[in-house]
Amino acid sequence: MNPDSQNVTDYTNNNTIFMVWAFKDNLDASPVFRRVCKLLINLNNSANVRFPVSRASCVMGIGHNAWLRLGLPVPLPKELENFVPIAGVKHTAVSTKGDLHFHIRADTTSICYDMAAAIADVLSPVATSTDEIHGFRYWDSRSILGFVDGTENPHGQDRELFGMIGDDDAFYKGGSYLFVQKYIHNLTAWKALSTEQQENVIGRYKSNDIEMPDDVKPSNSHIALANVGDDFKIVRDNMPFGNMSTNEMGTYFIAYASKFSTAQKMLNNMFIGSPEGNYDRILDFSTAKTGSLYFVPTFNMIDDFSSN
Ligand code: HEM
Repeated sequence: MNPDSQNVTDYTNNNTIFMVWAFKDNLDASPVFRRVCKLLINLNNSANVRFPVSRASCVMGIGHNAWLRLGLPVPLPKELENFVPIAGVKHTAVSTKGDLHFHIRADTTSICYDMAAAIADVLSPVATSTDEIHGFRYWDSRSILGFVDGTENPHGQDRELFGMIGDDDAFYKGGSYLFVQKYIHNLTAWKALSTEQQENVIGRYKSNDIEMPDDVKPSNSHIALANVGDDFKIVRDNMPFGNMSTNEMGTYFIAYASKFSTAQKMLNNMFIGSPEGNYDRILDFSTAKTGSLYFVPTFNMIDDFSSN
Protein backbone atom coordinates (compact mmCIF):
# COMPACT_ATOMS: atom_id res chain seq x y z
CA MET A 1 0.00 0.00 0.00
CA ASN A 2 1.12 3.56 -0.67
CA PRO A 3 2.60 4.50 2.75
CA ASP A 4 1.21 8.04 2.47
CA SER A 5 -2.35 6.95 1.86
CA GLN A 6 -5.06 6.92 4.48
CA ASN A 7 -6.38 3.48 5.33
CA VAL A 8 -8.70 3.02 2.35
CA THR A 9 -7.66 -0.49 1.35
CA ASP A 10 -8.17 -2.31 4.65
CA TYR A 11 -11.07 -4.67 5.30
CA THR A 12 -13.97 -3.91 7.59
CA ASN A 13 -13.23 -4.34 11.29
CA ASN A 14 -15.51 -5.40 14.14
CA ASN A 15 -16.63 -1.89 15.05
CA THR A 16 -17.05 1.28 13.08
CA ILE A 17 -18.24 4.83 13.70
CA PHE A 18 -19.23 6.92 10.70
CA MET A 19 -19.53 10.66 11.33
CA VAL A 20 -20.66 13.43 9.00
CA TRP A 21 -19.95 17.05 9.97
CA ALA A 22 -21.17 20.29 8.39
CA PHE A 23 -19.42 23.62 8.99
CA LYS A 24 -21.57 26.37 10.50
CA ASP A 25 -22.29 29.38 8.30
CA ASN A 26 -20.43 32.68 8.38
CA LEU A 27 -17.27 31.73 10.20
CA ASP A 28 -13.69 30.93 9.31
CA ALA A 29 -13.40 27.16 9.70
CA SER A 30 -9.76 27.02 8.56
CA PRO A 31 -7.99 27.25 11.95
CA VAL A 32 -10.08 24.40 13.35
CA PHE A 33 -9.65 22.39 10.14
CA ARG A 34 -5.86 22.71 10.55
CA ARG A 35 -6.18 21.31 14.08
CA VAL A 36 -8.35 18.44 12.83
CA CYS A 37 -5.69 17.56 10.25
CA LYS A 38 -3.02 17.43 12.97
CA LEU A 39 -5.33 15.41 15.20
CA LEU A 40 -6.08 12.89 12.42
CA ILE A 41 -2.38 12.15 11.94
CA ASN A 42 -1.92 11.95 15.72
CA LEU A 43 -4.86 9.56 16.22
CA ASN A 44 -3.72 7.15 13.50
CA ASN A 45 -0.09 7.12 14.66
CA SER A 46 -1.09 6.73 18.27
CA ALA A 47 -3.46 3.82 17.54
CA ASN A 48 -0.70 2.02 15.62
CA VAL A 49 1.69 2.34 18.54
CA ARG A 50 -0.75 1.69 21.38
CA PHE A 51 -2.92 -1.04 19.84
CA PRO A 52 -0.90 -2.59 17.00
CA VAL A 53 -3.17 -5.60 16.58
CA SER A 54 -6.48 -3.74 16.68
CA ARG A 55 -6.23 -2.49 13.04
CA ALA A 56 -7.55 0.84 14.25
CA SER A 57 -7.74 3.78 11.89
CA CYS A 58 -9.62 6.94 11.13
CA VAL A 59 -10.07 8.07 7.53
CA MET A 60 -11.14 11.65 6.77
CA GLY A 61 -12.92 12.65 3.57
CA ILE A 62 -13.54 16.26 2.48
CA GLY A 63 -16.63 17.32 0.51
CA HIS A 64 -16.63 19.61 -2.54
CA ASN A 65 -18.06 22.71 -0.80
CA ALA A 66 -15.69 22.35 2.13
CA TRP A 67 -12.75 21.96 -0.24
CA LEU A 68 -13.55 25.35 -1.79
CA ARG A 69 -14.43 27.04 1.49
CA LEU A 70 -11.17 25.92 3.11
CA GLY A 71 -9.15 27.13 0.13
CA LEU A 72 -7.64 23.70 -0.57
CA PRO A 73 -5.60 23.19 -3.77
CA VAL A 74 -6.94 23.93 -7.24
CA PRO A 75 -7.52 22.36 -9.65
CA LEU A 76 -9.63 20.05 -7.53
CA PRO A 77 -9.41 16.28 -7.73
CA LYS A 78 -10.87 15.58 -11.19
CA GLU A 79 -14.11 13.94 -10.07
CA LEU A 80 -14.79 15.84 -6.82
CA GLU A 81 -18.20 17.47 -7.06
CA ASN A 82 -21.43 17.57 -5.07
CA PHE A 83 -23.22 14.28 -5.63
CA VAL A 84 -26.05 14.76 -8.11
CA PRO A 85 -29.18 12.77 -7.15
CA ILE A 86 -30.13 9.84 -9.38
CA ALA A 87 -33.89 9.45 -9.82
CA GLY A 88 -35.30 6.24 -11.23
CA VAL A 89 -38.94 5.44 -11.90
CA LYS A 90 -39.49 4.30 -8.32
CA HIS A 91 -36.43 5.02 -6.19
CA THR A 92 -34.04 7.95 -5.82
CA ALA A 93 -30.43 8.11 -4.71
CA VAL A 94 -30.68 11.36 -2.75
CA SER A 95 -27.88 13.85 -2.29
CA THR A 96 -27.25 15.20 1.21
CA LYS A 97 -24.79 17.71 2.63
CA GLY A 98 -21.52 16.83 4.27
CA ASP A 99 -18.31 18.80 4.68
CA LEU A 100 -16.17 16.26 6.52
CA HIS A 101 -16.68 12.51 6.78
CA PHE A 102 -14.91 10.27 9.30
CA HIS A 103 -14.67 6.49 8.96
CA ILE A 104 -13.36 5.10 12.24
CA ARG A 105 -12.54 1.40 12.50
CA ALA A 106 -11.18 -0.79 15.30
CA ASP A 107 -11.67 -4.19 16.85
CA THR A 108 -12.99 -2.62 20.06
CA THR A 109 -15.65 0.04 20.52
CA SER A 110 -13.50 1.91 23.06
CA ILE A 111 -10.94 2.98 20.47
CA CYS A 112 -13.68 4.10 18.07
CA TYR A 113 -15.43 6.04 20.81
CA ASP A 114 -12.26 7.84 21.93
CA MET A 115 -11.33 8.79 18.37
CA ALA A 116 -14.83 10.13 17.67
CA ALA A 117 -14.87 12.07 20.96
CA ALA A 118 -11.48 13.66 20.27
CA ILE A 119 -12.64 14.79 16.81
CA ALA A 120 -15.95 16.11 18.16
CA ASP A 121 -14.12 18.14 20.84
CA VAL A 122 -12.14 19.99 18.21
CA LEU A 123 -14.86 20.37 15.57
CA SER A 124 -17.88 21.28 17.72
CA PRO A 125 -17.21 25.05 17.94
CA VAL A 126 -17.34 25.44 14.14
CA ALA A 127 -19.34 22.48 12.86
CA THR A 128 -22.44 20.41 13.53
CA SER A 129 -22.56 16.66 13.47
CA THR A 130 -25.31 15.82 10.96
CA ASP A 131 -25.09 12.05 11.08
CA GLU A 132 -23.46 9.42 13.25
CA ILE A 133 -23.80 5.69 12.76
CA HIS A 134 -22.27 2.96 14.89
CA GLY A 135 -21.81 -0.11 12.72
CA PHE A 136 -20.88 -3.58 13.91
CA ARG A 137 -19.75 -6.85 12.40
CA TYR A 138 -22.88 -8.98 12.17
CA TRP A 139 -22.05 -12.71 12.43
CA ASP A 140 -19.86 -13.85 9.52
CA SER A 141 -19.84 -10.38 7.93
CA ARG A 142 -23.52 -10.36 7.01
CA SER A 143 -25.59 -7.32 6.21
CA ILE A 144 -28.66 -6.84 8.39
CA LEU A 145 -30.57 -8.49 5.51
CA GLY A 146 -28.81 -11.72 6.45
CA PHE A 147 -26.57 -12.07 3.36
CA VAL A 148 -22.76 -12.00 3.51
CA ASP A 149 -21.66 -8.57 2.27
CA GLY A 150 -18.23 -8.01 0.72
CA THR A 151 -17.43 -11.31 -0.98
CA GLU A 152 -16.91 -9.97 -4.50
CA ASN A 153 -14.90 -6.98 -3.31
CA PRO A 154 -11.45 -6.57 -4.89
CA HIS A 155 -8.82 -8.49 -2.92
CA GLY A 156 -5.00 -8.22 -2.58
CA GLN A 157 -3.32 -5.73 -4.94
CA ASP A 158 -6.64 -5.04 -6.63
CA ARG A 159 -7.80 -3.11 -3.58
CA GLU A 160 -5.17 -0.45 -4.27
CA LEU A 161 -5.79 -0.54 -8.02
CA PHE A 162 -9.53 0.06 -7.65
CA GLY A 163 -9.50 1.97 -4.35
CA MET A 164 -6.84 4.62 -4.96
CA ILE A 165 -6.09 7.26 -7.54
CA GLY A 166 -3.21 6.31 -9.81
CA ASP A 167 -1.13 8.12 -12.43
CA ASP A 168 -4.11 9.58 -14.29
CA ASP A 169 -4.43 12.35 -11.67
CA ALA A 170 -0.77 12.65 -10.64
CA PHE A 171 -1.21 15.50 -8.16
CA TYR A 172 -3.78 13.52 -6.18
CA LYS A 173 -2.13 10.10 -6.58
CA GLY A 174 -2.67 7.87 -3.54
CA GLY A 175 -5.92 9.69 -2.68
CA SER A 176 -9.36 8.20 -3.11
CA TYR A 177 -12.98 9.08 -3.82
CA LEU A 178 -15.27 8.19 -0.94
CA PHE A 179 -18.97 7.71 -1.59
CA VAL A 180 -21.43 6.98 1.23
CA GLN A 181 -25.15 6.31 1.54
CA LYS A 182 -27.15 5.46 4.64
CA TYR A 183 -29.86 2.93 3.81
CA ILE A 184 -32.79 2.04 6.05
CA HIS A 185 -34.33 -1.36 5.36
CA ASN A 186 -37.95 -2.37 5.56
CA LEU A 187 -37.24 -5.53 7.51
CA THR A 188 -40.89 -6.36 7.99
CA ALA A 189 -41.40 -6.61 4.23
CA TRP A 190 -38.03 -8.35 3.81
CA LYS A 191 -38.80 -11.00 6.42
CA ALA A 192 -42.14 -11.66 4.76
CA LEU A 193 -40.19 -13.04 1.76
CA SER A 194 -39.17 -16.68 1.66
CA THR A 195 -35.45 -17.43 1.65
CA GLU A 196 -35.72 -18.31 -2.04
CA GLN A 197 -37.35 -14.95 -2.82
CA GLN A 198 -34.65 -13.13 -0.84
CA GLU A 199 -31.97 -15.02 -2.76
CA ASN A 200 -33.54 -13.83 -6.01
CA VAL A 201 -33.29 -10.23 -4.75
CA ILE A 202 -29.58 -10.51 -4.01
CA GLY A 203 -28.53 -13.03 -6.70
CA ARG A 204 -26.67 -15.27 -4.23
CA TYR A 205 -27.61 -18.17 -1.97
CA LYS A 206 -28.12 -17.05 1.60
CA SER A 207 -26.54 -19.65 3.82
CA ASN A 208 -23.45 -20.62 1.80
CA ASP A 209 -22.89 -17.20 0.09
CA ILE A 210 -22.51 -18.79 -3.36
CA GLU A 211 -23.40 -16.80 -6.46
CA MET A 212 -26.33 -18.02 -8.54
CA PRO A 213 -25.46 -19.29 -12.02
CA ASP A 214 -26.04 -16.62 -14.69
CA ASP A 215 -28.98 -18.48 -16.22
CA VAL A 216 -30.72 -18.57 -12.82
CA LYS A 217 -29.82 -15.13 -11.43
CA PRO A 218 -32.65 -12.61 -12.03
CA SER A 219 -31.70 -9.60 -14.17
CA ASN A 220 -33.05 -7.25 -11.46
CA SER A 221 -31.05 -8.89 -8.66
CA HIS A 222 -28.60 -6.71 -6.78
CA ILE A 223 -25.44 -8.36 -8.01
CA ALA A 224 -26.62 -8.61 -11.62
CA LEU A 225 -27.02 -4.80 -11.68
CA ALA A 226 -24.15 -3.77 -9.39
CA ASN A 227 -21.60 -5.77 -11.38
CA VAL A 228 -20.56 -3.36 -14.14
CA GLY A 229 -17.58 -5.35 -15.41
CA ASP A 230 -14.21 -6.71 -14.26
CA ASP A 231 -12.43 -3.43 -15.05
CA PHE A 232 -14.85 -1.39 -12.94
CA LYS A 233 -14.66 -2.18 -9.26
CA ILE A 234 -14.79 -0.27 -5.99
CA VAL A 235 -13.69 -1.16 -2.45
CA ARG A 236 -16.80 -1.53 -0.29
CA ASP A 237 -16.68 -1.38 3.52
CA ASN A 238 -20.41 -1.55 4.31
CA MET A 239 -21.47 -1.96 7.92
CA PRO A 240 -24.86 -2.93 9.33
CA PHE A 241 -26.47 -1.03 12.17
CA GLY A 242 -29.69 -1.37 14.11
CA ASN A 243 -31.74 0.55 16.65
CA MET A 244 -34.82 -1.13 18.08
CA SER A 245 -36.34 1.98 19.67
CA THR A 246 -36.40 3.93 16.41
CA ASN A 247 -36.91 0.78 14.33
CA GLU A 248 -34.03 1.85 12.10
CA MET A 249 -32.19 -1.16 10.75
CA GLY A 250 -29.80 -0.32 8.02
CA THR A 251 -26.71 -0.60 5.93
CA TYR A 252 -24.13 2.16 5.85
CA PHE A 253 -22.87 1.80 2.30
CA ILE A 254 -19.34 3.08 1.91
CA ALA A 255 -17.04 2.79 -1.07
CA TYR A 256 -13.51 3.93 -1.84
CA ALA A 257 -12.75 4.27 -5.52
CA SER A 258 -9.98 5.34 -7.87
CA LYS A 259 -12.76 6.78 -10.01
CA PHE A 260 -16.10 8.01 -8.70
CA SER A 261 -17.58 7.36 -12.16
CA THR A 262 -17.38 3.62 -11.40
CA ALA A 263 -19.68 3.98 -8.38
CA GLN A 264 -21.91 6.19 -10.52
CA LYS A 265 -22.26 3.45 -13.15
CA MET A 266 -23.38 1.05 -10.42
CA LEU A 267 -25.84 3.57 -8.99
CA ASN A 268 -27.31 4.25 -12.45
CA ASN A 269 -27.82 0.54 -12.97
CA MET A 270 -29.38 0.13 -9.55
CA PHE A 271 -31.70 3.18 -9.53
CA ILE A 272 -32.48 3.82 -13.20
CA GLY A 273 -32.09 0.21 -14.20
CA SER A 274 -30.57 -1.77 -17.03
CA PRO A 275 -32.40 -1.66 -19.33
CA GLU A 276 -34.12 1.46 -17.98
CA GLY A 277 -36.94 0.49 -15.60
CA ASN A 278 -35.30 -2.84 -14.66
CA TYR A 279 -34.10 -1.39 -11.34
CA ASP A 280 -32.42 -3.19 -8.43
CA ARG A 281 -34.99 -5.16 -6.45
CA ILE A 282 -32.97 -4.55 -3.24
CA LEU A 283 -34.29 -0.96 -3.37
CA ASP A 284 -37.84 -2.14 -2.75
CA PHE A 285 -36.57 -3.04 0.74
CA SER A 286 -33.91 -0.34 1.19
CA THR A 287 -34.31 3.46 1.18
CA ALA A 288 -31.30 5.71 0.67
CA LYS A 289 -31.61 8.43 3.32
CA THR A 290 -28.28 10.12 2.62
CA GLY A 291 -25.77 10.26 -0.23
CA SER A 292 -22.55 12.26 -0.52
CA LEU A 293 -19.17 12.26 -2.17
CA TYR A 294 -15.85 13.16 -0.54
CA PHE A 295 -12.20 13.19 -1.42
CA VAL A 296 -9.71 11.37 0.81
CA PRO A 297 -6.29 13.05 0.57
CA THR A 298 -2.99 11.36 1.41
CA PHE A 299 -1.38 11.97 4.81
CA ASN A 300 1.24 14.12 3.05
CA MET A 301 -1.49 16.44 1.83
CA ILE A 302 -3.17 16.44 5.23
CA ASP A 303 0.16 17.38 6.79
CA ASP A 304 0.40 20.30 4.33
CA PHE A 305 -3.19 21.33 5.11
CA SER A 306 -2.37 21.32 8.83
CA SER A 307 0.26 24.00 8.45
CA ASN A 308 -1.05 26.22 5.60
C1 HEM B 1 -28.89 -1.33 0.26
C2 HEM B 1 -27.65 -1.38 0.57
C3 HEM B 1 -26.80 -2.52 0.09
C4 HEM B 1 -26.71 -3.77 0.59
C5 HEM B 1 -27.44 -4.35 1.79
C6 HEM B 1 -25.78 -4.49 -0.25
C7 HEM B 1 -25.45 -5.82 -0.07
C8 HEM B 1 -24.70 -6.56 -0.98
C9 HEM B 1 -24.49 -7.98 -0.90
C10 HEM B 1 -25.10 -8.89 0.17
C11 HEM B 1 -23.72 -8.33 -1.94
C12 HEM B 1 -23.25 -9.76 -2.30
C13 HEM B 1 -21.92 -10.13 -1.68
C14 HEM B 1 -20.77 -9.29 -2.14
O1 HEM B 1 -20.19 -9.59 -3.18
O2 HEM B 1 -20.45 -8.35 -1.46
C15 HEM B 1 -23.39 -7.13 -2.68
C16 HEM B 1 -22.61 -7.07 -3.78
C17 HEM B 1 -22.25 -5.91 -4.43
N1 HEM B 1 -22.73 -4.65 -4.16
FE1 HEM B 1 -24.07 -4.16 -2.75
N2 HEM B 1 -25.31 -3.65 -1.23
C18 HEM B 1 -25.92 -2.43 -1.08
C19 HEM B 1 -25.74 -1.30 -1.85
C20 HEM B 1 -24.83 -1.21 -2.89
C21 HEM B 1 -24.55 -0.01 -3.63
C22 HEM B 1 -25.22 1.35 -3.40
C23 HEM B 1 -23.57 -0.33 -4.54
C24 HEM B 1 -22.89 0.53 -5.57
C25 HEM B 1 -22.93 1.84 -5.66
C26 HEM B 1 -23.26 -1.73 -4.36
C27 HEM B 1 -22.32 -2.42 -5.08
C28 HEM B 1 -22.12 -3.78 -5.01
C29 HEM B 1 -21.17 -4.49 -5.86
C30 HEM B 1 -20.25 -3.90 -6.91
C31 HEM B 1 -21.29 -5.86 -5.51
C32 HEM B 1 -20.54 -7.05 -6.14
C33 HEM B 1 -21.25 -7.47 -7.40
C34 HEM B 1 -20.53 -8.66 -8.05
O3 HEM B 1 -19.54 -8.39 -8.74
O4 HEM B 1 -20.93 -9.79 -7.80
N3 HEM B 1 -24.04 -2.23 -3.35
N4 HEM B 1 -24.02 -6.06 -2.06
